[in-house]
Amino acid sequence: MKSLSFIAFIVFWSVAGTLFALSLLVPGSGPVSAGEKTYTLQDIARHNRTDDCWMAIAGQVYDFSRFMPKHPAPPAILAVWCGKEATQGMKTKGYGNDHSPAAWAMTEAYRIGVLKKE
Ligand code: HEM
Repeated sequence: MKSLSFIAFIVFWSVAGTLFALSLLVPGSGPVSAGEKTYTLQDIARHNRTDDCWMAIAGQVYDFSRFMPKHPAPPAILAVWCGKEATQGMKTKGYGNDHSPAAWAMTEAYRIGVLKKE
């Protein structure tokens, strides 16, 4: 009976350990996801064009190059934020109104990593 409990103990912790290791590999599921990339504001500054547009928003880094032509307002309105910390742009749309929760949710599809604290 004792050895059965021992085997159950080993099996339980093997499964728990494997699940924990797997959870680290799924992006965004843990505090420090394995493979999560970090970028500095200098890295982001190199992508400051409409066709190569990165932004830092609220500590996350995004590549919006593919999204630029899809944005409801003309690309020029976003273009000024390419290569920059753009939390203010996202929160004000350039005139003081925050984006809708749906717009904020859309950003996740373009997230490429987190902003490195300097
Ligand atoms: C950071 C710079 C950005 C600026 C300055 C900006 C500005 C604007 C403006 C002027 C409008 C149209 C006017 C209005 O709806 O009130 C708008 C609408 C919208 N934008 Fe942006 N935008 C930015 C980034 C983004 C990003 C990154 C996304 C999503 C990935 C996004 C998604 C949307 C959506 C879905 C709308 C429709 C209205 C809403 O849902 O709030 N925008 N934006």
